[in-house]
Amino acid sequence: MMSAMPSLRRAAVRMWPASFALLLLAACEKPDHLPTVSATTALALGKLIFHDTSLSASGKQSCASCHSPDHAHAPSNALPVQLGGARLDQFGMRAVPSIRYLAATPAFAFDEEGTPSGGFNRDGSAETLAAQAERPLLAANEMANLTRAAVVDKLRRATYAPAFRAVYGEKSLDDVDTAFAALSDALQRYQLEAPEFHPFDSKYDAYLAGKVALTDAELRGLQVFNDDKRGNCAA
Ligand code: HEC
Repeated sequence: MMSAMPSLRRAAVRMWPASFALLLLAACEKPDHLPTVSATTALALGKLIFHDTSLSASGKQSCASCHSPDHAHAPSNALPVQLGGARLDQFGMRAVPSIRYLAATPAFAFDEEGTPSGGFNRDGSAETLAAQAERPLLAANEMANLTRAAVVDKLRRATYAPAFRAVYGEKSLDDVDTAFAALSDALQRYQLEAPEFHPFDSKYDAYLAGKVALTDAELRGLQVFNDDKRGNCAA
């Protein structure tokens, strides 16, 4: 009995850093103790969401992982397809496209020759960028959330959740469908409105604006590109 006291005390002393850490953790779990990230517009929120790896099942993948802003919003590596899924071991179905200049994509339709065009994704099935956002968030070989509810659950714990409520309304994260629609809207607004998605900064853009001249070789290439008899790339 006599010797139990000091050893208990020693155990308590040994345990106290752990319990202190637990206390801190409990405090951090409360939303009002989270560091808040400010964003006052849907566009700014969309940018945070686009870069947020916590919205994936792996916790390691965001939209920007496959659509890197420093690589024309295409992948930053030379792999034929990207890996995704909860353990980042699932192969993608096709090469990841750049997602620049999509503001110019018309809605899906058949043209006068019956050729399908427009819409988002390889089959044009997503009518808007907001509708498109659901696919990567839920695809088993991409961000791999099982349900919309799982995405919203993660969103509620995001550092920018208070900003999200400030922009989309106090109750915007309460209901799954409302929250998912707001998240999709923010992603769409970011892609449509942020200049980084449509910089128009190529030499050809400058040429069209009358600011630079093309070299002879470039002019010959442009002629071939526009030549109907050579397959007409422009078509
Ligand atoms: C694991 C890689 C990966 C991640 C992560 C990813 N994407 Fe993609 N993205 C793709 C692939 C592959 C395609 C082509 C799919 C298709 O065409 O069916 C694509 C297509 C798109 C398109 C359509 C492009 C077009 O021209 O139709 C948009 C827009 C897009 N992604 C936005 C996003 C957004 C927003 C996120 C985050 C919520 C995201 N992507 C996350 C791989 C990824």
